[in-house]
Amino acid sequence: MVGSANEADPATPAPVITIDGPAASGKGTVAARVARALGFHLLDSGALYRLVALKAIDAGIALDDAPRLVALAAALDVAFTAAGVALDGRDVTRAIRGEAIAEAASRVAVHPGVRSALLARQRAFCAPPGLVADGRDMGTVVFPQAGTKVFVTASPQARAERRRLQLAERGVVAAVDALLAEIHARDARDRSRAVAPLAPASDAVVLDTTDLTIDDAVAFVLARFAQRSA
Ligand code: C5P
Repeated sequence: MVGSANEADPATPAPVITIDGPAASGKGTVAARVARALGFHLLDSGALYRLVALKAIDAGIALDDAPRLVALAAALDVAFTAAGVALDGRDVTRAIRGEAIAEAASRVAVHPGVRSALLARQRAFCAPPGLVADGRDMGTVVFPQAGTKVFVTASPQARAERRRLQLAERGVVAAVDALLAEIHARDARDRSRAVAPLAPASDAVVLDTTDLTIDDAVAFVLARFAQRSA
């Protein structure tokens, strides 16, 4: 079920858990684990911004050319499968994961028109039996009606170290200091943009995972969901 919502009916009510937070906070891993535990659909909204960035770079479109980026975002041919993500029929699961694409994604994400163009596509993931939505504005903008909202944070050092380990697993060697600087720059851009800035929803619970394991964080979200659904 995870990753597939291609036949979702946006009008169908279904429980939604939003998991927002800054870069490398661990929210993606937590969201995927929670979705799997509940048998819910999973929306990795960051992947959509990364796909827009990848396609723009491939097409030679400048990351500040809002009209062309909006057209590109509106026409994005994406398929999420259990195996990964395809763009225009090409497997780009790995191609969108690099730090350069993350940085480019945060540049395309500042354009309000790009965000609007991706809105209906994100909301279409909301379908029975439920959805776990991971991003920056899931609880504030995309699914304000969500019954369970969690904002995941961790200290910048912990996040940089987690990103280093993630990259190492893929055979990429990166220095923690450089990753820390990239994370700071991306968070600053995500927090300061005019539209849908990175911020906890007023009704979100903030979960600091600096000293938590992934299992702890997953258990926290599942308990919160059970409590809110009771
Ligand atoms: O979550 P991920 O690191 O894949 O997101 C990449 C970038 O996409 C973020 O730094 C942010 O600028 C943008 N993004 C966003 N809104 C979301 C998800 C991601 O602006 N809901």
